[in-house]
Amino acid sequence: MNNAIAIDGPAGAGKSTIAKLVAKRLGFIYVDTGAMYRAMALYMIKNGISAEESEKISSTCKSADITIKHENGEQVVYLNGENVNGLIRTEEVGNMASASSVNKDVREKLVELQQKLAATTDVVMDGRDIGTVVLPDARLKIYLTASSEVRAKRRFKELTEKGIECDIKVIEQDIVDRDYRDMHREISPLKQADDAIYLDSSDMTIEEVAEKIMELYASEQ
Ligand code: DC
Repeated sequence: MNNAIAIDGPAGAGKSTIAKLVAKRLGFIYVDTGAMYRAMALYMIKNGISAEESEKISSTCKSADITIKHENGEQVVYLNGENVNGLIRTEEVGNMASASSVNKDVREKLVELQQKLAATTDVVMDGRDIGTVVLPDARLKIYLTASSEVRAKRRFKELTEKGIECDIKVIEQDIVDRDYRDMHREISPLKQADDAIYLDSSDMTIEEVAEKIMELYASEQ
């Protein structure tokens, strides 16, 4: 067993905010695996490949060089040498990431990269398959979720605060569709690991969730 904390759960459950906070408190490195799938999706979009072209996704992913660096405490994702942090947070890239991440070759490549990162340093890693596939020996596994209504509200707030116009109904439908795809894909679907602790953050603050995880981690020592 290593010191890692694995946090899995559906889109918008607050995984990255919580994982970042917990990593900072423990002095661990935060690894956002969704950002790697997003960088890969961006590469597909740049190459004019659509979500349905699975053979092209398989062959094209081989030439995507995705690397992760930590600069000033932030994870920076490089795609073929270019910092793509500012390009991967759009709904278009998120939807493509959900679709292209069903691909076996994409997953093999990114899981290997994630396991290498965790082998050399203590990490808090978030994603969909961290507790089940990437780090089955993690010291603590959390399955963090919230109702689709609450997740849509959070996303709506985040986007409107950035001045982006959006429709909460469309956001909630996108969340429901993405959950379905992530939970029903053939390879490494999103599911709670047998030994993961289930946390529903619908009625909890960020601080309450982070505190709960810190307590759980302390009790695992
Ligand atoms: O967490 P996120 O929204 O940034 O992730 C984008 C997509 O990437 C998500 O819909 C599913 C996929 N993903 C995955 O399949 N496995 C992971 N470990 C992380 C993300």
